[in-house]
Amino acid sequence: MKERPIGIFDSGVGGLTVAHAIKQILPGENIIYFGDTAHLPYGDKSAELIQQYSGKITEFLLGHNSKVVLVACNSASASAFDTLKKEFSGRTILIDVIDPVVDYLATRNFSRIGVIGTKRTISSGTYEDKLRLRAAGTTVISMATPLLVPMIEEGFIFDDISNAIIRTYLSNSSLAGIQALILGCTHYPIIKNQISKYFNFSVEVVDSAKIVAATLRESLEKNNLLNDTGKVKDQFFISDYTPYFEKIARMFFEGEINLKKADIWG
Ligand code: DGL
Repeated sequence: MKERPIGIFDSGVGGLTVAHAIKQILPGENIIYFGDTAHLPYGDKSAELIQQYSGKITEFLLGHNSKVVLVACNSASASAFDTLKKEFSGRTILIDVIDPVVDYLATRNFSRIGVIGTKRTISSGTYEDKLRLRAAGTTVISMATPLLVPMIEEGFIFDDISNAIIRTYLSNSSLAGIQALILGCTHYPIIKNQISKYFNFSVEVVDSAKIVAATLRESLEKNNLLNDTGKVKDQFFISDYTPYFEKIARMFFEGEINLKKADIWG
């Protein structure tokens, strides 16, 4: 039971920022990762389609005996987590990337919080709805920042192009006076420093990867599921393989990684 892997999925390789944070604090856990590169980006898709994809991927991860399924994609967490819970709650532990961040923010006394993410995540209103319940009285300003994903994937991280795009989005007057900014996309931890710098380090930039990894550890401890057997073997699958994905996967995972193609779409 304890040796069973942590199933993690994302639309592509962005969720590897979460996988990396998990390996940092839980090096003894086995990971099975699935990136749905055949269908990315999820940020432009409808909720219905993301629910369909997420259900099938969860079946795949459960077919590999996952003791937990972690939705390491904000767009899928915003659109499909409720349907996944309805379908799979009895069969595994389900964790998303939004609830742990909302729980964390509920312990802080921010009056004005910004959230940036894909069009799907922002239009779902999930962060606002959840923060309204858990941190009443907090004003939440959300903004879709769709250029950030291709910008990061193309390697524009700390240069004139990335500085101009980040500045153009974050200088929007609606974000004036925020005390915290949620990075509502699993790609964004890659540019966390640049975003903090834009705000002269005076805004708390909330990166879900570490918070979610801590939530996972708590859940494994509570359920007596920590892998203490010393046997570790990670597996990384994507639904469409190109050397390009392999290259950017290394940037997100911050280390060597072997991606294998898993053809779950038949
Ligand atoms: N990783 C996805 C997320 O967190 C963004 C990429 C996409 O649009 O598929 O929303």
